[in-house]
This record gives sequence, structure tokens and C-alpha cells, in this order.
Amino acid sequence: MTLPLSSFGQFPSTRLRRTRRWDWIREMVQENQLSAKNLIWPIFVIEGQGKTEPIATMPGVERMSIDLAVEAAQQAAQLGIGAVAIFPVTPASKKSNRGDEALNPENLICKATHAIRSSCKDSIGIVCDVALDPYTSHGHDGILVDDYIVNDQTIEILCKQAVLQAQAGASVIAPSDMMDGRIGAIRTALDQAGFDHVILMSYAAKYASAFYGPFRDAVGSAKNLGGASKKTYQMNPANSDEAIREVALDIQEGADIVMVKPGMPYLDIVRRLHDSFSIPIAVYQVSGEYAMIQLAAQASAIHEQACVMESMLAFRRAGADAILTYFAPRVAQWLH
Ligand code: PBG
Repeated sequence: MTLPLSSFGQFPSTRLRRTRRWDWIREMVQENQLSAKNLIWPIFVIEGQGKTEPIATMPGVERMSIDLAVEAAQQAAQLGIGAVAIFPVTPASKKSNRGDEALNPENLICKATHAIRSSCKDSIGIVCDVALDPYTSHGHDGILVDDYIVNDQTIEILCKQAVLQAQAGASVIAPSDMMDGRIGAIRTALDQAGFDHVILMSYAAKYASAFYGPFRDAVGSAKNLGGASKKTYQMNPANSDEAIREVALDIQEGADIVMVKPGMPYLDIVRRLHDSFSIPIAVYQVSGEYAMIQLAAQASAIHEQACVMESMLAFRRAGADAILTYFAPRVAQWLH
């Protein structure tokens, strides 16, 4: 049977299912790929030796002492994971109103960074978070004056924190505090201290999200924060145009990579940034997203591996280059 020309491009001559029939053809035309190199693994570090602690709201994730974090980073490097992101669990006794422990060159994050850098050399990237929330008694990311997180005073401390982390061996400085103007200030501080090669990954579009709950349990900032919110500095989840402004400013100020956080509920933001700018994009599959998948899988409601891998590809499809995920070692193993 010959079809009239007018029906070319139409069913039944056009059948998209032809390229879905077998693995080889599905894989040949697959538009997006995932590699372990795209992954950044966030880890929680505690004081002590040979010590791990479970995190109740994040089953399958453990806090670990520095010696075990070093082993974990070595394994991650072997699995081809691009980088680890270190989050310190500061003992309550070392938290203060101004978060002074952030500027202790012997604090947990600096010691862990130094230890991992010494043992792993350049086989894996080390991302250090810049913000004061692991160190403040009120759990906020900056200096609190009369119920408000003051911007410029906070930045002065963040700059010093960033330089200390770079001195300890950080490859990437990742400010997650959402103060205005901090990217430019930190870039200048790093350059002046001789760290012009250190990468700046800005948490550029970071939303005031309820999905950070389990992380705040993990680092112990939930009880410090009490009922307080971070809405005066983190973005309103209702906004999208504002993410463009945040990212445009951070690029001007010298960011090398910009991040969207959380991940799955904000894929539209990842896509908009990818279409609007030519800069590497990271996305953070945050603790609440991890908990949702993990707890649903444990209840046999969903299949863990299939759902995690689908979420990874969704991030790549939306336009993310790097994916921060607590599933990183499992994903890397599944890819092998
Ligand atoms: C803190 C910080 C947070 C996360 C990363 N860095 C929490 C917050 O802003 O309260 C969240 C990560 C996660 O939920 O997995 N500056």
C-alpha cells in the first residue's frame, strides 16, 4: 500500500516505538547518560576514631569519624565518583552565637579535608561547604542580630572560613549561606590568599525548603534552629525568575559552577538555568528526597535501584552536570 505524501510523518508510517524495541536501539538513541564522574557524595563527619553513627531519618547513611571518612573517600575514588562534600557534625559544646568554631583551623571539616587530601591526593575532588549553621548555637547560616541574619558581617567570616578550607586542601568551595554578594567577596579572598585555582560552586538557587529536615537532624542543627526558618535568606519556593537573577549575579561575581537545591521538586529551575546560561550546573538531591525514596523502598512501595537511577537520569535530562546525592556510592556500584 502506498501512502499519500500528505500522510508522511504521520501514523502509520511514523512509529516512534521502532526505536524502543530492543536494548541496542534504545541505548543507541538515548539522549542523556549518567556516569559516576557526575556524582558528588555528601558525607557527615564526627569526632572520634573508628566511629559511625546511624541517622534515624536517613536510613542507610551514617555519620563517620575522620579515619573512616578517609576510607570512604578512597572507595569513592575507586568507584569513579567525582567528589565528596564534607559536612561536619559539630559537638554542641563547640557551638556559639557567632559560630567561632568555623574559624578554628583544627575544626572537623578542616581536619577531614586535610586527611582526605593527604591520602587520596587528586584522585577525588573535595567540596567544602561555606556557611555558619554547623557552628552556630541558633542554627542559622550567619550572624544573628535582633532576629535578622546580617549580611555583610556574615560575609567577612565566610571569607575567612573559605580560605581556611582552601588551606586544608579543598578543591571546591561551596557557599550555601545565600548572603548577597558573598561569591565575589569569597573569590577575592581566595585569590588574595593564593588560591586562585580553587573552584567556586555557588549554592545559587537555594530554596527555603522543608526537604532539608533530615540533614538538620544529621548535623544536629534542627534543635538549635527550633522553629525558626531561613526564609529571610533562602529563596521562596514560589519563585523562578528570581533564580535567574541569583545565578546571573553569581556568574558576574565569579562562580564556576551554580547549584540548584533541592533537586527533584526544582527540575524546572535546572532546565531554565541550562537554557539561559552557559555554565556548569549542579543539583542537590537533598536529605528529604533521599528519605522519601529510601523509606518508600524499605516499605516495598517502590524499587530502590530503579527509582534512584531514574531520578539520576531526570537530573541529567533537566540539564545538570553534577549531582549531589547520598546515593552516590550505590549509584556508582550499580553503574559498574
Ligand atoms: C546548610 C546546608 C543545608 C544543606 C546543605 N547545606 C541545610 C540548610 O540550609 O538548612 C541541606 C542538605 C540536605 O538537606 O541534604 N547551609
